[in-house]
Amino acid sequence: MSGLLIEGCRKLRGEVTVQGAKNSTLPILAATILTEDENVIHNCPFLSDIDVAVRILRYLGCSATRHGHTLLVNTEGMNDFRVPDSLMREMRSSIIFLGAILARCHKAQLTFPGGCELGPRPIDLHLDALRKLGAQIEEHHGEIVCCAPEGLTGTSIALAFPSVGATENIMIAATLAKGTTTITNAAREPEIVDLADYLNKCGASIEGAGEGTVVIEGVKKLSGASHNVIPDRIVAATLMSAAAVTGSDIVLNDVIPAHLRGVIPVFEEAGCKVQVKEGRMTFSSPARLRPLKLIRTTPYPGFPTDAQAPLMALSTKARGITVFVETIFENRYKHIGEFLRMGANIKTDGRVAVVEGVPKLYGAKVSAQDLRGSAALVVAGLSAEGTTEIDTTKYLERGYEDLDVVLSTLEGSVKKI
Ligand code: UD1
Repeated sequence: MSGLLIEGCRKLRGEVTVQGAKNSTLPILAATILTEDENVIHNCPFLSDIDVAVRILRYLGCSATRHGHTLLVNTEGMNDFRVPDSLMREMRSSIIFLGAILARCHKAQLTFPGGCELGPRPIDLHLDALRKLGAQIEEHHGEIVCCAPEGLTGTSIALAFPSVGATENIMIAATLAKGTTTITNAAREPEIVDLADYLNKCGASIEGAGEGTVVIEGVKKLSGASHNVIPDRIVAATLMSAAAVTGSDIVLNDVIPAHLRGVIPVFEEAGCKVQVKEGRMTFSSPARLRPLKLIRTTPYPGFPTDAQAPLMALSTKARGITVFVETIFENRYKHIGEFLRMGANIKTDGRVAVVEGVPKLYGAKVSAQDLRGSAALVVAGLSAEGTTEIDTTKYLERGYEDLDVVLSTLEGSVKKI
């Protein structure tokens, strides 16, 4: 297993391209199941979570081959409706296969998904919605057995919370259902829009993706399509954090500024300058950041929970106090203990963290415990005096393609060990 060695206090400079979005690629790969056809998905990042999705597709009898960042997925030969526990446990998004398998096979057998431990991550909204669409679902001993012998039927579904995964699962399942499905209080994340764009290219009829109400007219059949996955807004926010914390100026290519509207104002508040023209972001930062004041994670278009940890890394060195309130996940402050080892000044009380900026962080041996927390340790390490050793890249590799190489291209000193 590899770790990372970071020599801090170096300015970054140069230009890199932001990878494709993991959180778009995963539901799109699951949705290819509906098409029974050949699909060409471009801009798929090299990530361990994407590998898990490919392994699930192959287990189900589909073919999936990589040509660089393009995945050719042919789901015609699918011959199974079960996903084994060993694959389900590898990531939470494996649950996204439930709606797809059920819609295509009229039955599905999965187990409860795994993934980063961010507190309890129930799937009640997914299961309740599929029941409303007509599925009979039994849960016992961690197994989920679903069937809908006559297929699914469209209905109105009001989500108690705008869950990203539940919205995606419903959209996928309802695409082949009889009649109309209306989701209210749907998640509005850009990845939902990307999934709808892909499905509509395949022949689905989905309107309102990206808004609170999504209407899906069921269709009988889809055909395969070619699709280009959107750039990863969380990776962009992480690279912006890395530049900001080191007082650097960098250029990021393949950025959609609208997708970053929850985070760009926060960087601007800290004194950074952000300009985006035709997908090219010019990012420059002051020698010392101003505090970010209050960061409250909320569903899109608010400040994303996935950007909380990387932004907290830069707040540790800002002038003054930043308050974080994590409203989406319960247990998303595991990076704080590691920041403290590096000399940060942070107090927590439940979902609130109060960060008082310090002039310096110091390199230390730190332990990565989840995906975004790992990225945050990299950001902190880049700004720390001396060497930071991160014990494992296994979480980082779930969501960041070759972050060490990307940062080295930007003249940072980040090495895999
Ligand atoms: C997705 C993203 C993840 C991001 C999260 C929130 C993917 C692959 N992952 O995760 O990176 O951090 O959105 O933006 O897209 N909940 C329930 N019951 C459910 C479903 C969710 O209570 O049935 C709760 C969760 O426990 C959590 C909150 O709702 O507290 C948000 O979860 P959700 O939006 O579903 O996140 P994911 O789709 O898992």
